[in-house]
Amino acid sequence: MLYRKPLNKLRKFLRKQGFLRVGVFSAFFLGTVLYSWIALSQQPVTLNLLMTAPDAQPWQQGIVRDFEAKNPDIRINIIEGPNATNLLEDLYTSAFILGDSPYDLINMDVIWTPKFAAAGWLVDLTDRMSPEELAAFSSADIEGSRYEGRLYRIPMRSDVGMLYYRTDLLEQAGLEPPETFADLIQVSQTLQQKDLVNWGYVWQGRQYEGLVAMFIEVLEGFGGFWVNPENLEVGLDRPETVQAIAFLKDTIRQGISPPGVTTYQEEETRRFFQSGQVAFLRNWPYVWPLAQEEGSPLQGRIAIKPMVGSAGRTGGASLGGWGLGISTSTRHPEEAWRAIQYFTSEEAQKNFVLNAGFVPSRRALFTDPEIVAEYPHYPQLLEVVQQAVLRPPIAQYAQTSDILQRYLSAALTNRMSAEQAMQAAANETRRLLNRG
Ligand code: GLC
Repeated sequence: MLYRKPLNKLRKFLRKQGFLRVGVFSAFFLGTVLYSWIALSQQPVTLNLLMTAPDAQPWQQGIVRDFEAKNPDIRINIIEGPNATNLLEDLYTSAFILGDSPYDLINMDVIWTPKFAAAGWLVDLTDRMSPEELAAFSSADIEGSRYEGRLYRIPMRSDVGMLYYRTDLLEQAGLEPPETFADLIQVSQTLQQKDLVNWGYVWQGRQYEGLVAMFIEVLEGFGGFWVNPENLEVGLDRPETVQAIAFLKDTIRQGISPPGVTTYQEEETRRFFQSGQVAFLRNWPYVWPLAQEEGSPLQGRIAIKPMVGSAGRTGGASLGGWGLGISTSTRHPEEAWRAIQYFTSEEAQKNFVLNAGFVPSRRALFTDPEIVAEYPHYPQLLEVVQQAVLRPPIAQYAQTSDILQRYLSAALTNRMSAEQAMQAAANETRRLLNRG
């Protein structure tokens, strides 16, 4: 009996201790959960963005770093894809078709807008920007961002096909820059005969999207057309298309363009031109700063002009360009919109243009003093951009382009005659468009 009391006390004490331990443990556990939850909720949101590998570099160097410094709650994860717009489009497309696409932002070529919008893969941005804000962009870029009257993409940079030429060679030979296709052939031959240069002209002849972007310029220069987006009329089996192909084939046949030109994309032609072996190049504005950089044999020796046309006609300029859209599958649409606002802002574009030589989509930047000091040809470029030709903005663009790429390539590499190839391309395109 005597030892009972202290024993009870001890039991009570231990029980208390137990409660205490459970209490301490629970508080610790809850604290940890709370802490991790707070920590997790403060983790920056990551936005995934896929783009071609050469584009990734200027993004990573400047504007992404600046954006993240200003927005510590958002990280931009750039994924480097293949260097061809159609291959990149395939990657985006398969991700959307499989569902649960990992991409929050979409860096979109101007030609993708109708297809992606029609498929329901893009957030409608129409109410996000006022008409006054939109008016600051070049109208062709905004048109290329709409589908059925709604806006799905904000232009980040424009692009326009043009003709580069060697001013030093023309001066040496006492020649003027060409105005027509015939001039281009003639001047090239003269420069080659005088042994001033190995080749006359390089263009993108490989079977891919760049072939079509280049071809519509020549087609426009001959007065032809591909598909009229208003009524889906197809113009490929008209004589102008055959003339346009004949011009390109002539450049190879006459030794003005190397036979390998039918395997070249933009970068192969740019490197060839930059090595000093060619007098004329068809390409986009990104070539300019590369050709003018320290150590380039072309520094101070090149100029640009709009693509030539047939006698009496001005040449065509293909409208390219890239813009940003938001994927409907993103869990972070607000953060994605903040990123778009920054990347398409005047500040970010200016930085991007000065670094990478891209063409702005904001009109004011074409005449910005700092930009003009670096690129004196930009004010003139705005006119070219405004008059540039859109590849047909239709939802079936990817298949339409694929048909033309295949038959054009067959004609250029002599696997089919131009007439046969274009008749087949026209028939296939009509079948596709009538179906859809
Ligand atoms: C450039 C243009 C793009 C075009 C592509 C073709 O990237 O900006 O619009 O489709 O070249 O290769």
